[in-house]
Amino acid sequence: MSFEQATWVWKNGELIPWKDATVHVSAHALHYGSGVLEGIRCYDTAEGPAVFRLDAHLDRLYDSASVYGMEIPYNRAQLAEAVCEVIRGNGFRSCYVRPICFFGSASLALNPQRCPVEVVIFAWPWETYLGNKALEAGVRVTLSPWVKFHSRMLPTTAKACGQYVNSILAVREAMGRGYDEALLLASDGSIAEGSGENIFLVHGEKLLTNDERHSILLGVTRDAIIEIACNLGLPVEIRAIQVNDLLSADEAFFTGTAAEVTPIREVDGQPIGSGARGPLTAKIQQAFFAATSGRDLQHRHWLHLVASGPSKPVPATEATSLSETQRREIEHREGSAAMAREAAHCDPA
Ligand SMILES: Cc1ncc(COP(=O)(O)O)c(C=O)c1O
Repeated sequence: MSFEQATWVWKNGELIPWKDATVHVSAHALHYGSGVLEGIRCYDTAEGPAVFRLDAHLDRLYDSASVYGMEIPYNRAQLAEAVCEVIRGNGFRSCYVRPICFFGSASLALNPQRCPVEVVIFAWPWETYLGNKALEAGVRVTLSPWVKFHSRMLPTTAKACGQYVNSILAVREAMGRGYDEALLLASDGSIAEGSGENIFLVHGEKLLTNDERHSILLGVTRDAIIEIACNLGLPVEIRAIQVNDLLSADEAFFTGTAAEVTPIREVDGQPIGSGARGPLTAKIQQAFFAATSGRDLQHRHWLHLVASGPSKPVPATEATSLSETQRREIEHREGSAAMAREAAHCDPA
């Protein structure tokens, strides 16, 4: 993870230097986790940087906010453009993007109704989430003693900040015992998901995964993998996953924006299938990366081109002291960027 390379942050409508993107200690979200967030990846493609499934991530962001009674003071088109602006501003070809909307500072009463909604988007290069070799070698997981909260306790399909303390407990406990990741059971004893990933099993030629009835976040990657599997002619069964289903699986893998498609090679010391990445997992990984890289034209609509633009934003104070030549140069670049955006459909729809 390298925050060092990130220089600009979009905060409440403008790009500001990373070091100035701070929050007051009295912010409601800092105390109670009253925020909603997204994790999005931008991939380097032959057509330039492209955001994977931006629409689906923004849909989930607005849905999460709505569950918590939060009104995001920007529309979908503005946030889509803000995501592109952050990527362009930092000059990234590929990166992880983190939009977060949270209740700011005004009151610490539990009801945040008086608190302003702050919106921040930042990005940084984030390679593999579960370790350098995870995509190929797979990860070792453990069944967590921490149970995933039921949807009557917290809305599992919302991606809200405070909900992640459950994941933090689970992943810390698992890593403390030497595992790469935790698998959380739902309160009915079936498998829910990883601390930050959904799970798929392979039985023969069939895929098995669960859904919102089993206390999971409905992953955007999960959705993409279901579609990819169907296109590959692999049936996907959606039902509760029992521990026995996992232990008897030929293959298993995690899906998530951060983890992408990561094989699970072992659960509590017991190998899954051959104990290495299986052939169907490899096939699905290949198809997934073909989609994220833009090589798979069938899923080209999943990519939102960032398009070219000024490599560095010009803060208002600096802009006023620009020479005429510099101003013309910026106008020229902005004009080209607008044309490129139009060509690439990056402009708000
Ligand atoms: C708890 C949890 N489950 C599943 C996922 C996978 O979701 P997505 O594929 O949208 O990243 C995530 C990641 O955001 C997560 O935090």
